[in-house]
Amino acid sequence: MTIWYGGDYNPEQWPKEVWHDDVRLMNRGGITLATVGVFSWAHLEPREGEYHFGWLDEVLDLLHANGVRVDLATATASPPPWLAMRHPETLPVTAEGVRLSVGSRQQYCPSSPVYREKARELVRRIVERYADHPALELWHVNNEYGCHVSHCYCDVSAAAFRDWLRAKYGDVDELNRAWGTAFWSQRYDSFDEITPPRAAPTFRNPTQLLDFDRFSSSELLACYRAEVAVIRERSSVPVTTNFMGFFKPVDYWAWAKEVDIVTDDTYPDPADPISPAYAAMVRDLMRSLGGGAPWMLMEQATSAVNWRQQNAAKSPGQMRAWSYQCVARGADGILFFQWRQSAAGSEKFHSGLVPHSGTDTRVWREVEQLGQELKALSDRVGEAAIEGSRVPSSVAITLDWDSWWALEQPASPTDVSYVQTLFAWHHALTSLGLAVDFVRADGDLSGYRVVVAPAHFVATDGQLDNLASFAESGGALVVGFASGITDEHLHIRLGGYLGERLRRTLGVWIEEFAPPAAPDLAARGSGIAPPVQLSGDVFGGSAEARVWSEVVRVEDAETLALFTGGALDGWPAVTRRAADAGTAWYVATLPEHGALRRLCESILSEAGVEMPGDGSLGEHVELVRRGALLFAINHGPDSTQLQFDGSDILSGEPARGLELPSQGVAIIEA
Ligand code: GLA
Repeated sequence: MTIWYGGDYNPEQWPKEVWHDDVRLMNRGGITLATVGVFSWAHLEPREGEYHFGWLDEVLDLLHANGVRVDLATATASPPPWLAMRHPETLPVTAEGVRLSVGSRQQYCPSSPVYREKARELVRRIVERYADHPALELWHVNNEYGCHVSHCYCDVSAAAFRDWLRAKYGDVDELNRAWGTAFWSQRYDSFDEITPPRAAPTFRNPTQLLDFDRFSSSELLACYRAEVAVIRERSSVPVTTNFMGFFKPVDYWAWAKEVDIVTDDTYPDPADPISPAYAAMVRDLMRSLGGGAPWMLMEQATSAVNWRQQNAAKSPGQMRAWSYQCVARGADGILFFQWRQSAAGSEKFHSGLVPHSGTDTRVWREVEQLGQELKALSDRVGEAAIEGSRVPSSVAITLDWDSWWALEQPASPTDVSYVQTLFAWHHALTSLGLAVDFVRADGDLSGYRVVVAPAHFVATDGQLDNLASFAESGGALVVGFASGITDEHLHIRLGGYLGERLRRTLGVWIEEFAPPAAPDLAARGSGIAPPVQLSGDVFGGSAEARVWSEVVRVEDAETLALFTGGALDGWPAVTRRAADAGTAWYVATLPEHGALRRLCESILSEAGVEMPGDGSLGEHVELVRRGALLFAINHGPDSTQLQFDGSDILSGEPARGLELPSQGVAIIEA
């Protein structure tokens, strides 16, 4: 049994002689899995209806002969130019009415019946030909659904959107009520009058925008399902499609149920010191989407990408450290984009496992080293200890795409970033040495001691009831600002924000938003100081917040921290109420990292959650327990000394007193 190791393999970019060198090097590098065919449509079907599989036969046979398993793509992510020439209506259209062209990639309208049929036909041919190929390990459906084109505003999409709305609302009066079209003379007399939310003079209808986000995510899912249905007629090999971390356009909760293994593409910026902490959140999401099952990192870069303004190279050891972060947080596979760095095309400056300069390079040496280590690790610990083993977590954060979409719409009360708010909580919790799960607000919360619901802006009655019941049945519920503001149609919950159900459980309600002045206001010299001051023992004294504040009205709760100074002087910032068997906290702002971490410590210790990170190793050392193993990863610039019982299975040294250099990793078995 192995932890999969490999990456996207695009042999069509290279002459055949190179293929033999490829497999030789793959064996040297310990590669066990190659993703083949992601962008091969134009090579497999160079003219409509004319299929050329000979080259792919050769590639798969060669990989098989050399012991490399294959994640075979359905090749539908980028249609060839002939599709647009013959069927121009398959090209997507932006909200401004611009029809996108060929010459790049992923130029298709997700609702196009022509695109879907051509894609299905290609998949049918691929599956017929390779379903029984001995190298086949996994089907890779399309690629990064929604990347580049997530919403299409063309007439074909408009018709599909109307059908979706008819199915959802039944009659147009129902839609008028839900969308609040009494406002601004927006009333529709029939479904035929409705368009996607195309460019308009000013703010577009918020519920129309939200429904269009929901529709667009589900149209992409329909594309995925259509391909999977074709695969399943002939093959029972597991199926996946690669996710993209916290990707706003696609509601991965709906998708995760439909993949056999969750896979992810993540490219943290090596130059940004916060990247490891943010990446930890992405890894935790991937584990959570699969309900705790092992997932796979489908793509990362060995070094630099080519699509940032400034593309930092990874520092020595960083690729290895970040790969182990994935394993620690539940991954059973480490793959890259792409095997051989391209010599031509838009991604030729994106790093690969085999760099432009060949194998006498730092990157290749690190690739080889990691390959050997992952193999040794798999052999050493075997299936029970790591493969398939779970990452225990008693703390969860709610994640809700509706809230994300709605909170960040224009004309919302704030410019708060939904994911940055989640990240602030996640970062505070993980810096205490915890792996944190993500959950749906209406999911099963019974396995957790603490559930944090930050900015749960759009809340159904069922979700509010589920969160409140969690507290009443013994959990510690922590509700963050901007929660329970609207129902699922974006209608305000009147009579005090939070809604009736949470108001009773938390013992507070929100009278008014009072966000701090935007930082640029102070910069313009208006004299308004941006940070909000806080005081309370839960923060260890005083603290600052810059993002948000609210007027909290306490009915039946203890006040644990106050806003101090400014317009909110003396008003509650953090409250707590004993809610039957559990506790319900309300946090009306977003304290800066150190203060939020101290608040989390208070919440966790009261809830009886153990925190392996006592802080003595500093902020840069990530600690994660997976099964019987404790992973310690040093993301900081300085080395540090570990003081744990047991031994490091990578070096074979005792863990007590072990020197962990910058980018160093230890895997400790007690
Ligand atoms: C995505 C795509 C790849 C490649 C990489 C580059 O993840 O799936 O084809 O473009 O980005 O970072």
